Amino acid sequence: MISTTMATALNEQIALEAHASSLYLSMSSWCEQEGLVGCAQFMRRQSEEERAHMLRIFDYVNERNAHALTPSVHQPKHQFESVQKMFEEVYAHEKKVTASIMKLVEQCYKEPDHTTLLFLQWYVEEQREEEALMSTLMDKIKLIGTGGQALYYIDKEVEKINGLEIASEAAEVEK
Ligand code: FEO
Repeated sequence: MISTTMATALNEQIALEAHASSLYLSMSSWCEQEGLVGCAQFMRRQSEEERAHMLRIFDYVNERNAHALTPSVHQPKHQFESVQKMFEEVYAHEKKVTASIMKLVEQCYKEPDHTTLLFLQWYVEEQREEEALMSTLMDKIKLIGTGGQALYYIDKEVEKINGLEIASEAAEVEK
């Protein structure tokens, strides 16, 4: 059993992960419209990852005899100024998710709730990886710059990073 405060906080995290999934799917669609196929695939995979993050917490809440609440679907934005600005937004969103996970960890120490603390360790590690990935991506985009062929090279670079992520996930499954 988890406390009511913890159940509320975890349900808020479920909603945050669901929003990330919806926003990233919208970004994927925008990239597709812009002819950025590599970026579209990258954001589609990120969207699916966020849904998996949401479901992992959802199942945990129900398993601990609390009530996991299905979040409402907020319409995400559909237009983005540029691919550079879009990835800046992803990076900012990931930092927001990390801050929210850290608040949950603090709540675990406060109660204390060692079981939820242990459950959240996976998210602490996942957020470290997500932020590192987005930081690398932002660095590459800055290096490519904004010249005439920039969008082509950004898309190719993101496609390459996406391929590495898929290979790394497959290796994790085989472990
Ligand atoms: Fe599940 Fe990328 O936050």
